[in-house]
Amino acid sequence: MSKAHTVWVSRPLFPEVLATLAQYVEVRVESKESKRAPEQLRAKLARVDGAIVGLGDRIDAGVLAGNRCLRVIANLGVGYNNLDLPALTAAGILATNTPDVLTQTTADYAWALLLAAARRVSSAERWLRAGRWRGGMRFDDWLGVDVHGKTLGILGMGRIGQAVARRGAGFDMKVIYHNRSRLPDAVERECRASWVEKRQLLARADHLVLVLPYSAHSHHAIGAPELLHMKPTAVLVNIARGGIVDDAALAAALREGRLAAAGLDVFEGEPAVNPALRELDQVVLSPHIASASADTRRAMAQLAADNVLAALGHGPNAGHPPSLLNPEARGGRAAET
Ligand code: 8YV
Repeated sequence: MSKAHTVWVSRPLFPEVLATLAQYVEVRVESKESKRAPEQLRAKLARVDGAIVGLGDRIDAGVLAGNRCLRVIANLGVGYNNLDLPALTAAGILATNTPDVLTQTTADYAWALLLAAARRVSSAERWLRAGRWRGGMRFDDWLGVDVHGKTLGILGMGRIGQAVARRGAGFDMKVIYHNRSRLPDAVERECRASWVEKRQLLARADHLVLVLPYSAHSHHAIGAPELLHMKPTAVLVNIARGGIVDDAALAAALREGRLAAAGLDVFEGEPAVNPALRELDQVVLSPHIASASADTRRAMAQLAADNVLAALGHGPNAGHPPSLLNPEARGGRAAET
């Protein structure tokens, strides 16, 4: 039986999630993930009712121009700087993201990068795999910096930032944070974290984790001037977005010994990575995988599917997408289902 709605999925997804979608809608799924030009995206979206997209799919007014069908865009990620939300709202198209389901997994990964960078896990492994461990290792080789008992700084204290902070207690760390708005006292107590000015955060943190959303305001929030305030023994971790750190300035700070190490999951212009960063042994690099545990990626995909179905009036949440970003777009096209 033909279905009333069609949903485009811009990359391969878990078969069981696609099967949930297929119960209600016609599914058009791409067999591989690839970067599409705006005109390709426009063509893909032209005759579908909903779409599940990823961070590489930039959905803006140009891509939406002339589109008469689309009712919902579900983003596979909590961050949604790839979506032009005002343009979607103006067109009456609902937009959703995948909050909460990835909070703990992403916070775990911030710690994985922090520990790996501070204790030189990646470079030690590269050295060992290269067959260079032939006995006679010096007692003062491979000296990293400690994590336990130090001061953990967090820039951006939303759900993931708070989850990173809570883990600090297990390492006997003092936790300080900076966020545009200060958290309520009860949340600060629960996270054992104190608010400080950004300048203080940079100067006092032994290790700094970035967890803030990308926007014009947060572009290069850590650039050359900010790096000058940091301790030369500090480790910087970025699990937020490329563009929040000025990668060239970071590479210079590391090369000149003004920072001990960095753990980076996101990059300006990814998947390209600044060659200056690739050359530095004290940087742990990963390809934007902070949310990539089997359980969490599945949960993110399922939440995106639930959002699309609900927006198109199907399934248990019909009419109520669980993580709607622009409720003001309700009454637009989705209401006509
Ligand atoms: C990505 C993320 O969605 O949720 C976010 O904002 O950056 C990640 O979870 C994921 O890595 C797929 O690109």
